[in-house]
Amino acid sequence: MTSPDQPLRVLALCLGNICRSPLAEALLRRELEAAGVRATVDSAGTGDWHVGRPADPRSIEVARAHGLNLNGRARQLTTQDFEDFDVIVAMDAQNLSDARQLSPADARAQLHLMREWDLQAPGADVPDPYYGGPDGFETVYAMLERSARAFAAERKQAP
Ligand code: 4NP
Repeated sequence: MTSPDQPLRVLALCLGNICRSPLAEALLRRELEAAGVRATVDSAGTGDWHVGRPADPRSIEVARAHGLNLNGRARQLTTQDFEDFDVIVAMDAQNLSDARQLSPADARAQLHLMREWDLQAPGADVPDPYYGGPDGFETVYAMLERSARAFAAERKQAP
C-alpha cells in the first residue's frame, strides 16, 4: 500500500526508451523536486530494440543544453512496473494502448498521456523525433517541460 508519506512513483513510457521518455524522466524529476513533491522517477519503452543502450545522442544533447544529464540505460516495460509505480505517463496513444494490453487486471499504476498536462494541446501525442532532425528534439523538450511542470503543480496541490 502507498501512504501519504511515501514518495510518488512515476514512470515515463515511450517506444524505444532512448528519445522521449529519458527526457520526460529527467524533466519530471526536476519539476517534481522544484515543486517540493517527493518522487522517484524512472522511464521505460514498450519495445526491446534498444535495451541496455544509453539515450539517443540528440536527446542527451538537448538535455545538456538545458542543464540536465541523461545517464540511464534503456529498459523494456514489464508487468511488475504496474505494481511498482503509481503513475505511468505514456508519450503517445500507441504507447498507452500497448501499456493497457500489458496491464494486469489488478494494476496499481494509473495510466495517462504525458500531454494531458500540456495546456497548448491537451492529450496530444509527444511526436516521435527519432527519424527527424535536431529541431524535433527541441520541440519535444518544450512539450515535455510544459507537461512536467503542470503535472508537478497538480501533484503539489493533491492532498
Ligand atoms: P522513443 O523513440 O520511443 O522516443 O525512444 C524511438 C526510438 C527508436 C525507435 C523508435 C522510436 N526505433 O524504431 O528504433
